[in-house]
Amino acid sequence: MNNFSELITKRRSIRKFTTEPLTAEQVELILKAGLKSPTSKNAKPWRFIAIEDKELLTQLSLCKKMGSKLIADCALAIVVAVDPLTSSVWIEDGSIASIMMQLQAEDLGLGSCWIQIRDRYTTAETLSEEYVKDLLDIPMQLQVLSIIAFGHKDQEKPPHDDDKLEWEKVHIGKYNNKQ
Ligand SMILES: Cc1cc2nc3c(=O)[nH]c(=O)nc-3n(C[C@H](O)[C@H](O)[C@H](O)COP(=O)(O)O)c2cc1C
Repeated sequence: MNNFSELITKRRSIRKFTTEPLTAEQVELILKAGLKSPTSKNAKPWRFIAIEDKELLTQLSLCKKMGSKLIADCALAIVVAVDPLTSSVWIEDGSIASIMMQLQAEDLGLGSCWIQIRDRYTTAETLSEEYVKDLLDIPMQLQVLSIIAFGHKDQEKPPHDDDKLEWEKVHIGKYNNKQ
């Protein structure tokens, strides 16, 4: 895809994937997108844990009460863990890396979905973050922000509709409450 506005229009959260694995080149390009993402003070406080093992993916899919089941059937999950001691704006840094990897996946014609981990809980009421850290041996000082699930799309979703954009949320010049 050569057109960025087309890419962001087409990108939707994909929650159904085929069983086809990703190629090593696809995985590398997605990880490169994370590693090239901008960070405050160029601190690069993130770590990316890439998981393709089916058993681990199944266990990872239980990390939240809701909204994480799709991980079981994705081809690749990347856990975005960030060091809050390296950056006071680690949430921003990790979020930017997460969306950069999603956009790279879309550019490759792949589907992806963000799974929120920070501030979420398992069915056993333990912190999702602790569950993920235990499962993957992630060091204690890191915070788990998100998991991005990737794979070949097994569902069609319409692109974003320009006619439905919420332009009332845009203010030109000063904020205008009477809009
Ligand atoms: C910060 C954030 C957290 C999200 N958490 C989840 C999640 O835990 N599970 C899930 O299935 N989708 C999750 N999503 C995907 C959103 O539901 C999705 O982006 C939103 O509904 C808009 O749809 P679209 O991505 O197709 O445009 C998350 C997205 C963001 C940006």
